[in-house]
Amino acid sequence: MGTVRTAIPGLDELIEGGYIENDIILVTGGPGAGKTTLGIQYLVGGATNFNEPGVLVVMDGTPERIIRDSWRFGWDIEKLISQKKIKIIYANPFKYTKFTKTPEDRTPCVIVASKNIADTLRQIQIEVEEIQAKRLFIDSITSLKLAVDRTDVRQIVSELIKNLEYLDCTTLMTSEMHSAQSFSIEEYLSSGVIRLHIFRAGGCRLRAIEILKMRGVKHDESLHPYEIQERGIVVHSTETVMNDKISLFDNMGW
Ligand SMILES: Nc1ncnc2c1ncn2[C@@H]1O[C@H](COP(=O)(O)OP(=O)(O)OP(=O)(O)O)[C@@H](O)[C@H]1O
Ligand SMILES: [Mg+2]
Repeated sequence: MGTVRTAIPGLDELIEGGYIENDIILVTGGPGAGKTTLGIQYLVGGATNFNEPGVLVVMDGTPERIIRDSWRFGWDIEKLISQKKIKIIYANPFKYTKFTKTPEDRTPCVIVASKNIADTLRQIQIEVEEIQAKRLFIDSITSLKLAVDRTDVRQIVSELIKNLEYLDCTTLMTSEMHSAQSFSIEEYLSSGVIRLHIFRAGGCRLRAIEILKMRGVKHDESLHPYEIQERGIVVHSTETVMNDKISLFDNMGW
């Protein structure tokens, strides 16, 4: 079993060198925690430094927005798309009724105009095969959970995760975290869970990363500070954060 480098400075050190090949890893955290950035950095780093192409599935926000925000970190997604190192699938489950590209919309992406998870999975398989992708990033499955009936959530999430396991890809997916004290269905079903916490401590904001689980890995169990810098996320793996700070998300009345 090989390992897949995370492309996040400091993160590989916490998980014995990288993600286990073909695993499904969940990245969870509150608003603005850096979930999307961590996933895009994984794809861009893989394509640029490790010759591992990647597929991005946009379920939240738009591809234009992701491409624009990536520029801030110096990541040229459009160039990587033209080199067939990245492919974008736009699968917004809320827009499936009237969902076509306008002529002025030049974002290079494939659209899945369906609320049905099987259609999205089929398209993912096509695009993964086309560019021989080794990395997959789905942002975020919370949109999918909100788009289906409450009673179907568990079944849809487990169907998604089970099917992703058949791909020859190492998958990262994001979901919202509403409380640091409770767990979601996707946290149980994924092979690994990375939590991005934001704490308030003495008028300052502190970001801390935690490896909640990583099956088959003797992973680090402490909270470590991370920063979102000019060139993306950096984890300070040799520093730790005391768990006596106030979590912003448990303080918001969720
Ligand atoms: N160039 C930058 N330099 C430093 N910090 C930045 C920069 N760009 C964005 N950020 C920080 O990153 C945050 C957004 O990160 P990101 O979009 O990855 O978070 P997210 O967890 O995906 O959020 P959401 O829940 O809204 O999807 C911003 O709120 C800001 O704090
Ligand atoms: Mg996001």
